[in-house]
Amino acid sequence: MEQMGEVVCENSHQFHWPGYNFFAILGIIVTSLISLRLLRAIWNLWRLYIWPNLRPAQDYVKLYGKWAVITGGSDGIGKGYALELAKRGMNICVLSNFENNIVSEIRSVYTVDVKWIDVDFSTTEVYERIEKEISQIDDIGILVNNVGMVQSKWQPLADQDRRFMEKIINVNMATVVMMTEIVLKSMLRQNRGLIVCMGSMASRVPTPYATLYASSKAFIENFSVCLASELSETKIVVKCIEPCFVRTQLLKDMTKFTDFLKSYWSWTFPDGLSFAATATSTFGVIGTPVVYAGYVAHEILTLIVPHSIGKETLANISTKFLRWLTSEV
Ligand SMILES: NC(=O)c1ccc[n+]([C@@H]2O[C@H](COP(=O)([O-])OP(=O)(O)OC[C@H]3O[C@@H](n4cnc5c(N)ncnc54)[C@H](OP(=O)(O)O)[C@@H]3O)[C@@H](O)[C@H]2O)c1
Repeated sequence: MEQMGEVVCENSHQFHWPGYNFFAILGIIVTSLISLRLLRAIWNLWRLYIWPNLRPAQDYVKLYGKWAVITGGSDGIGKGYALELAKRGMNICVLSNFENNIVSEIRSVYTVDVKWIDVDFSTTEVYERIEKEISQIDDIGILVNNVGMVQSKWQPLADQDRRFMEKIINVNMATVVMMTEIVLKSMLRQNRGLIVCMGSMASRVPTPYATLYASSKAFIENFSVCLASELSETKIVVKCIEPCFVRTQLLKDMTKFTDFLKSYWSWTFPDGLSFAATATSTFGVIGTPVVYAGYVAHEILTLIVPHSIGKETLANISTKFLRWLTSEV
């Protein structure tokens, strides 16, 4: 009995090793957090990409207002937004450098009003005129801050031209702030509206050799999240859409890179119109998430990126990959 007592005592001593409870609790916490993240991801995939395609198309005119204002809406993803929103009966106002027949293209298919404002967003002297022209539009429901530019090839920051960097700052960041400020006043008066900002996955996955572009997109993400929170007591919705790569003129000179995508990752490389069709169908989803990819394949890519290894490590991996792939840098 004494021996047995000793054995019981030894076992119970092993059983109550002080680290045991700690690691068991840690395991439960980590598993719960991963499960919660997974559940949230599945829920978001459902409400952003599946449910909007099962239900009848939402009436954005009723939900937000009559007009959609789209910066850079004459080509690429912006043109896709213009066509998709016109399809839903919204009047369209496009602001861009060139008209690119967007007005006639929309008018030939849809019976909506279309307006084009000739603007070069690479300077900041345009906003007084834009405000004057926009003030004539009654009931702006959606603003899509879409315009954006990137350098024509992967390039170290030190090699970039200063005037060109100023242009990127103006086109990618100043427009988002100034256009939002111009349109927000009328949305606040109506207490409804949607502000969509085009970010990029480059803000979540650091993209060296497009350093300024990626950083401008990180600015847009932060701007959108803060603004959404500021406006949470109103009926104005803010969304930041962060695609991975989309087949548009933006990437036209990065041929080695786009050829690689076409060959190995074509399922993640939609054209501007297909991307915009999916992203537009998410415009009626109110509430969180504020930031998402806008295209299901890109949402999955965002989920599988191992964010937990940290931004510095991700940046170093991107650098090595781009050096290997393009031999441009
Ligand atoms: N394509 C991608 O892989 C990708 C990935 C992530 C995020 N995005 C973002 O999505 C947005 C749209 O990109 P996209 O690929 O559709 O680009 P895109 O095909 O190059 O189209 C850009 C649009 O912006 C206009 N634009 C460019 N510079 C302008 C300026 N200085 N002043 C006025 N208008 C100007 C262009 O009009 P003009 O023809 O008149 O110049 C065009 O309508 C951008 O914010 C981009 O950063 C794109």
